[in-house]
Amino acid sequence: MEQLHIVGGRRLHGQVRISGAKNAVLKLMAASLLVENECIIRNVPLIKDVLTMIEVLRNLGVELSWEEEAVLRIKPKKGLNYVAPDELVREMRASVQVMGPLLTKIGKVKLFQPGGCVIGQRPIDLHLKGFQALGAHVVEEHGYVYAEASKLKGVDIHLDFPSVGATENIMAAAILAEGTTVIKNAAKEPEIIEEQNFYNRLGARIRGAGTDTIRIEGVPALRSVPVDYTVIPDRIEAGTYILAAAITGGEITLLDVIPEHFEALTSKLKECGVQIQIDGDNMTVASSGKLKAIDVTILPYPGFPTDLQPQMTAVMSLADGTSLITENVFGGRFRYVDELVRMGANIRVEGRSAVVKGVKRLTGAAVIAPDLRAGAALVLAGLAAEGKTVIEGVHFIDRGYERIEEKLSSLGAEISLIN
Ligand code: UD1
Repeated sequence: MEQLHIVGGRRLHGQVRISGAKNAVLKLMAASLLVENECIIRNVPLIKDVLTMIEVLRNLGVELSWEEEAVLRIKPKKGLNYVAPDELVREMRASVQVMGPLLTKIGKVKLFQPGGCVIGQRPIDLHLKGFQALGAHVVEEHGYVYAEASKLKGVDIHLDFPSVGATENIMAAAILAEGTTVIKNAAKEPEIIEEQNFYNRLGARIRGAGTDTIRIEGVPALRSVPVDYTVIPDRIEAGTYILAAAITGGEITLLDVIPEHFEALTSKLKECGVQIQIDGDNMTVASSGKLKAIDVTILPYPGFPTDLQPQMTAVMSLADGTSLITENVFGGRFRYVDELVRMGANIRVEGRSAVVKGVKRLTGAAVIAPDLRAGAALVLAGLAAEGKTVIEGVHFIDRGYERIEEKLSSLGAEISLIN
């Protein structure tokens, strides 16, 4: 079983290049089911979730190959399958994002109903309500969800919550529908703008991504043109390295980032006393390591992202004072707190909030990552803790961070991956 071994106490310094955005690339790969010709996607991170999505798509009848490092060539074959393989859907929830593209392209899709999740309940009712509103017939039975439609018709859809996945799936399903679909209270994440841009390159007519209203004018067919697309940098990976610099009292420069995408984080960190300097696509973060505790409220974009909540909690565990971290996106996302407490943190969870009383020091311990971002939080705690931390559950971290041990080592951390 893989473990990460970290000896804490090293201040990070140097430069780090941020990889392509996991949550954009997975959706662009699913979107490639609609490609009539072939497409190239660049800046694809070599992470476990990308490898899983490659397998999902191969099973559905898509040809994928690595052209070179970080460059995927994708070409759907004629006659796609409509059933996504159970074990892959179980492994990666983002597999549900093939539903919208398949429904609009071949009129049916079936997959294993993704169940509960360690970070809280993650139903897909909003996705399915959207498909139904567009005229699809949806059946949920024997643990599967099946959707079919001979014709989809544009409609106005108001989402109860700005769900990222539902916005993306409904957007995809509406592309070849008859008439115009308007999604209101849509999610506004930068990854959704990526998808709009990608689909429009294929010949779709979508406007408004990045705002709460997205308008999709259905087209009879997409163009048979090759598309070459470069994915945006990963704002969550960037945020994790920023927080690593903050917790170790280091100074690092992130290369190739879009600073506007994580302003919710940097504005909060400035309040804590971290210095942030932007120079074009690069950002330098400098921290004395003595941070002021602040309260953080997790909200959909452009609010503070839930995918940085555990890492921020780790940083606040060493801050001066008490901070209140309130999670409004995923109810069950505090499962890692017991592990931080094992390292000496003083955190109490009350419902949707964590009360974090800053302590003077954390001490290295054997801990287990319960999920991807919680794993990153434990890495940050390990970097700042006295002595050695051993992290199990590394496969979760591999799902979303490209070569994390190499990148952190190059910044001066004492970290190694033990097989
Ligand atoms: C995506 C991201 C994930 C991020 C999350 C929120 C990917 C692959 N994953 O997940 O990293 O943490 O956005 O920024 O892009 N909900 C429902 N019904 C639904 C759909 C969602 O009740 O049909 C609820 C969820 O339970 C959750 C909230 O809406 O409480 C947000 O979920 P959503 O935005 O859909 O997250 P994902 O798309 O699954």
